[in-house]
Amino acid sequence: ADRYAVFGNPVAHSKSPLIHAAFAEQTGQALTYTAVEAPKDDFAGAWQRFAREGGRGANVTVPFKGEAFALCDTLSHRARQARAVNTLILGGNGRLYGDNTDGIGMARDLAHHGVALKGKRVLIVGAGGAVRGVLAPLLAETPGEVVIANRTAAKAADLAAAFADAGRTSGGGFAEIEGAFDLVINGSSASLAGDMPPLPERLFAEGATAYDMMYGAAPTVFLRWAEARGARPVDGLGMLVEQAAESFFLWRSVRPETAAVRATLRRTLA
Ligand code: ATR
Repeated sequence: ADRYAVFGNPVAHSKSPLIHAAFAEQTGQALTYTAVEAPKDDFAGAWQRFAREGGRGANVTVPFKGEAFALCDTLSHRARQARAVNTLILGGNGRLYGDNTDGIGMARDLAHHGVALKGKRVLIVGAGGAVRGVLAPLLAETPGEVVIANRTAAKAADLAAAFADAGRTSGGGFAEIEGAFDLVINGSSASLAGDMPPLPERLFAEGATAYDMMYGAAPTVFLRWAEARGARPVDGLGMLVEQAAESFFLWRSVRPETAAVRATLRRTLA
């Protein structure tokens, strides 16, 4: 069986092995998928060892997406825009190809939830690697406007400027947020610490969706805050499954069905 793995640190709690095992079973693909905890200072060594032992490809998660980007011989356009790689594919010629499926995963998940972006006002909270990774696929859905707000305002402004060619974007601090939004995406790591970014009270338009790129057994502090203000809460579990499905497709040229896997994963969290 062909070997795949997710590389991270820490990685023990990753749901990716469970997701890819379900995809493999469903599609009848003969493969194994494990979790590899790479040393914080030697992602490249860990990958190369895996490749020597027959590894064909991998997913890459925190904190190695930038190092995976640097390691690749060839990069997809979307990986170059993200400056991060979450999917490694080892070619028959030994060359390493890097792609990034996070953004398309999020766009697919939003579609699953019936969230149409065309012409809508979108606010993104955070301006780190996670947000950079999803901006291009999000802008490709032609929202009316994308505002990026971040604790460090200059990082939001820089990121908005970097993607100005792809759509109408602006960026700044939380105090500069104005008006109502149809979709508010939390891409900051604030919820990991249980912190709530200082967002204005009147943030949501009628029928708005609040989307957290994080997920867990219980709703994040951001989603609880948003639901109390009338927005529909959606967590990042579907995004995880959809980015995995896209990686699986890149490796195996077979597109797995995600609905049952989302439901199974939700049950394992409860
Ligand atoms: P990631 O790859 O997860 O995006 P990152 O690049 O370190 O990680 O970015 C973390 C993001 O979460 C940043 O936007 C960060 O804000 P700063 O740029 O001001 O550091 C944001 N963040 C982290 N902790 C936060 C908190 N407690 N409140 C608000 N924003 C926070």
